[in-house]
Amino acid sequence: MNKEQALKSLHEKGYLDIPIDKNIDLIAEINRLRKEKNVVILAHYYQVAEIQDLADFVGDSLALAQKAAKTEADMILFAGVHFMAETAKILNPDKKVLLPDLLAGCSLAESAPKEEFETFKKEHPDHIVISYVNTSADIKALTDIVCTSSNAEKIVNSIPKNQKIIFAPDRNLGSYLIKKTGRDMLLWNGACTVHEEFSLEKIKALQKQYPKAKFIAHPESRDYILDLADYIGSTSGLLNYVKNSDAQEFIVATESGILHKMTQIAPDKTLIPAPPVDDDNACACTECPYMKRNTLEKIYLALKYELPEVKVEKELAEKALVSIQRMLELS
Ligand code: 13P
Ligand code: SF4
Repeated sequence: MNKEQALKSLHEKGYLDIPIDKNIDLIAEINRLRKEKNVVILAHYYQVAEIQDLADFVGDSLALAQKAAKTEADMILFAGVHFMAETAKILNPDKKVLLPDLLAGCSLAESAPKEEFETFKKEHPDHIVISYVNTSADIKALTDIVCTSSNAEKIVNSIPKNQKIIFAPDRNLGSYLIKKTGRDMLLWNGACTVHEEFSLEKIKALQKQYPKAKFIAHPESRDYILDLADYIGSTSGLLNYVKNSDAQEFIVATESGILHKMTQIAPDKTLIPAPPVDDDNACACTECPYMKRNTLEKIYLALKYELPEVKVEKELAEKALVSIQRMLELS
């Protein structure tokens, strides 16, 4: 395949669809390329185990943004989804940021299109905007402070009591924050299609089967799921809870990629993934189809050809940076 064909595949499929020699040792090649090009590989907890294991750093959305803000590498390869790589690019305008598959999107980010959000904001001129990091650069540029699930409560609480707030785009995290902070926020109607899928009936059945298990959930889940939870937290919050709790069994309501790190951190504990309503997959667990678009093959090709690259137009990046930096200062 020549370069023109490779670029055509990138345009059509979102990733470089180039045949790879079957005899190649992918991990060894990835290690050679990352060293040669001084690349930092950042991976989210929802990546498959083999990608987490080769990353320089594995973390939640906040920790990954903090790492990206401080990196001294020449290039960043983001094994996560588009909004994460875009945030890394906004924080590092002069560095190449690679995302192995440009179609690694996010239902939450997609639920807030720029024009509709701009109109909504204009309809409420006396409100400030707090946006979850799972948004496009366009939305971040219309936002006063970005937050992640790790720091959302702190950020909402940092706003003076008499200041009206729009919270976007996750209605589930927004409702949870309203309960936690007592603030009457105006919510955008977006959701994570992965965390919305947990089955109440199946979780209740698991609780009967494992009466001593703690049920822990990510706040992107629906309120009737969160109502059952012994602990609610971001991916790193859930990990720490499992590590520090005296309990031995946990029913875990978040994307199943987290189980890899949880098993490494707490090998003696029993982890039961919370099942989605429609659980015809082998693991009876929940997987984010966007996060799972990344593969070792795509990472190898991205490092080799330095493509696909995430780019953000300069003026937009400068506007979006303000709301991201406010979050980092408060975190
Ligand atoms: P955190 O990593 O911030 O917990 O977010 C979870 C998530 O859904 C990322 O897309
Ligand atoms: Fe987006 Fe949900 Fe996937 Fe996270 S798990 S990337 S919020 S769709």
